[in-house]
Amino acid sequence: MSKSDAKGMWSGRFSEATDAFVAAFSASEHYDRRLYREDIQGSRAHARMLADCGVISQADATAIMEGLDAIAAEIEAGDFPWDPALEDVHMNIEARLTERIGEAGKRLHTGRSRNDQIATDVRLWLRTVMDESIGLLLRFQTGLVDLAEREADTVMPGFTHLQVAQPVSFGHHMLAWYEMLVRDQARFADARQRLNQMPLGSAALAGTTFPIDRHQTCAELGFDTPTRNSLDAVSDRDFAIEFVSAAALTMTHLSRMAEELVIWASPLTGFIELPDRFCTGSSIMPQKKNPDVAELVRGKSARVHGALQALLTLMKGQPLAYNRDNQEDKEPLFDAADALRDSLHAFADMVPALTVNRDRTRAAAREGFATATDLADYLVRQGVAFRDAHEIVGKAVAYGAAEGRDLAEMSLAELQQFSKVIDGDVFEVLTLDGSLAARDHVGGTAPAQVRIQVRAARQRLATG
Ligand code: ARG
Repeated sequence: MSKSDAKGMWSGRFSEATDAFVAAFSASEHYDRRLYREDIQGSRAHARMLADCGVISQADATAIMEGLDAIAAEIEAGDFPWDPALEDVHMNIEARLTERIGEAGKRLHTGRSRNDQIATDVRLWLRTVMDESIGLLLRFQTGLVDLAEREADTVMPGFTHLQVAQPVSFGHHMLAWYEMLVRDQARFADARQRLNQMPLGSAALAGTTFPIDRHQTCAELGFDTPTRNSLDAVSDRDFAIEFVSAAALTMTHLSRMAEELVIWASPLTGFIELPDRFCTGSSIMPQKKNPDVAELVRGKSARVHGALQALLTLMKGQPLAYNRDNQEDKEPLFDAADALRDSLHAFADMVPALTVNRDRTRAAAREGFATATDLADYLVRQGVAFRDAHEIVGKAVAYGAAEGRDLAEMSLAELQQFSKVIDGDVFEVLTLDGSLAARDHVGGTAPAQVRIQVRAARQRLATG
């Protein structure tokens, strides 16, 4: 086989060399070389199995192993002669192997195809990525739980429609983020289970005529079971779609968090201070401290959503079995994985390091009649029907808005203009801390409940 021409791989059938444009158009080595470790790992398992089954000699297998090890070292050292004319990572490595060890190198591809090879490589690669994603999610979750504990008693306004709604604990808000990440983690773990089946041995599409032992390669590569259908195994990329789908949802969660961080870091609310090391300045406005990291995470979510759309569309028109369309899965997949990893990394470091301006969050909760529902609930406990209580409090709020005073700042006589059943004990429910503490049930915002959830989360994080 000629060193720098993929046609060497199929020269028997062809009477002219590949058109130069077509060669460049179909080459993928510049990005799929990223799979070299998995490609070599799969080739090693395949060669050992071929020798153990008597398909190739043990001597050939030994030469192949040594050759592949040397190639791995070459690639790691940056000395590997990547050649786009050899199309992809598979043919680059195989051609180099034959160049290094001669005849034995040509026997490696016995009973195998690039179709089952790439399906195996991507699964191996993605399995590691999923495990890393889960690790990053756990690190971020731990940071959020620490922050939640630190800020369990911190009062902030809770919002609906971005209007002040009811006071909540800042720690409770952090645990809301934590819950999103718990579900995200479960999605990766779930997708990993389905991904962990081994396509090797499916060959091009129908299996192979050689007496191979798929259980051996399966065990060596750490898969749970060999795939049960060769046509399906070489063609479907649903496992990649599942990963990017889980990643897209995680990025949606991170993007929502980013949006809140941007709002909270703005002087308009002044709720939090982000560490300087995670912010950037302006080249013209000396006063600026910008939350760029949060904005970039919000921006990167768009790339991951795009990758999901690309992969879904890539798959939908493909008849069984393998089609070259599938080569187009790698760039969106890699891009999504990188964006996810970097975003999780950034937030796992930055978010737990933020400081809360507790006076600001408390003052903001006081500004928006955040305890209006507490007053309505109080009236209900005094025997007023909730709808009537709602109406009464609405009038009190309108009065307060006109006077520029919160409910807690009115005198008892003033409050009694709206309902005679209001008593001196009303002020207990009108304080922010009283409002928080009153929501003392599973899932409620009472600091006591936040601490219970923090303990449960720590338990879960410690035991997995
Ligand atoms: N590079 C291809 C891919 O990424 C694998 C090669 C299979 N090519 C082929 N013509 N059968 O899917």
